[in-house]
Amino acid sequence: MILVTGGAGFIGANFVLDWLRTSDEPVVNLDALTYAGNLENLASLKGDPRHVFVQGDICDRALIDRLFAEHQPRAIVHFAAESHVDRSIHGPGDFVRTNVNGTFTLLEAARGHWMSLEGEARAGFRFHHVSTDEVYGSLGPTDPAFTETKTYEPNSPYSASKAASDHLVRAWHHTYGLPVTTSNCSNNYGPYHFPEKLIPLMIANALAGKPLPVYGDGMQIRDWLFVTDHCSAIRAILANGTPGEVYNVGGWNEKPNIEIVNTLCALLDELKPDPAGSYRRLITYVTDRPGHDRRYAIDARKIERELGWRPAETFDTGIRKTVEWYLANQDWVAHVQSGAYRDWVEKNYAGRE
Ligand code: NAD
Ligand code: TYD
Repeated sequence: MILVTGGAGFIGANFVLDWLRTSDEPVVNLDALTYAGNLENLASLKGDPRHVFVQGDICDRALIDRLFAEHQPRAIVHFAAESHVDRSIHGPGDFVRTNVNGTFTLLEAARGHWMSLEGEARAGFRFHHVSTDEVYGSLGPTDPAFTETKTYEPNSPYSASKAASDHLVRAWHHTYGLPVTTSNCSNNYGPYHFPEKLIPLMIANALAGKPLPVYGDGMQIRDWLFVTDHCSAIRAILANGTPGEVYNVGGWNEKPNIEIVNTLCALLDELKPDPAGSYRRLITYVTDRPGHDRRYAIDARKIERELGWRPAETFDTGIRKTVEWYLANQDWVAHVQSGAYRDWVEKNYAGRE
């Protein structure tokens, strides 16, 4: 049995679905169901006894202690977080609470549980912390990609809160010996991605005939990875990673935002042509995000060398699957575009020219 936090969100849900496709080991899934958590992501697991869903907060120590005692998980995979940079600019408090205090609470509960174990159970226990490449800061155009020894230079409230959580995880290993591993992954994309993030937002807006808001000059670079490749990397680390180690995970796939948006328009023009003309007509340059990081790139050689992991999808295959998924699941998009979602869109985009 493993304990997953944040398993109703984008990557966590993909991880739980993948896990139960490839293994019979049960999952306890702890998620607070914030705006980003959605049980529809897990609808295909309805009635499956291998999946136990618990609605709750990772800051609730008594609840976490109870889950450890009741289910005796051999590992915890920690996804739960506030994850959107733009939201962290408008309201950083939730990011510090969940990403820093929540991770601290989980570490303390896990440490208490681990110390009560003996023999193989104790030696085999793992705490895997899911983090981001954004903790490393922003790269210049010719800088080498981030390695695991790159200094931390977080620039947004989101990346600063994730950096803080990474430091706590590191310290719990060095000070207490807790068997932790950490992955720092680049931007993910794929099914169940909440339409506040670049790729699903552009698809949803295009299909609704709305402007495609490109921040600044659109030349910011991200290193995109298909979500199931992130899931397989985490499985590899859980199975064979070394306690105390950090693994960078990325897609070897750096692209400027405007190229991503153009690719999405071209795929939609092919798969769902709009009689009004190419979706490119909707591209609109808007005021940039404050403190916007210019470039992220991951050097993923360590995880390949030590654990034999490489991404299975290319960007061409992954992005086509993603657009096809959104076209086939427009009900899912409609359901998550609730009143609260519309309020967010109003707040984030109204002030931009
Ligand atoms: P997401 O926002 O889609 O999902 C986060 C989930 O955590 C939601 O289900 C939410 O309900 C839950 N949650 C939030 N606060 C909680 C709390 N206090 N207690 C319990 N559950 C809570 O995020 P995501 O994109 O799936 O990201 C998952 C993890 O991966 C995060 O830690 C993020 O930092 C990391 N990450 C994301 C990306 C990316 O491109 N999305 C890249 C690298 C790393
Ligand atoms: P996002 O998906 O929010 O991920 P992150 O900020 O964590 O990298 O954004 C990806 C890139 O797309 C980032 O450079 C900001 C940019 N972007 C836009 O240009 N327009 C948008 O409406 C959004 C949401 C993002």
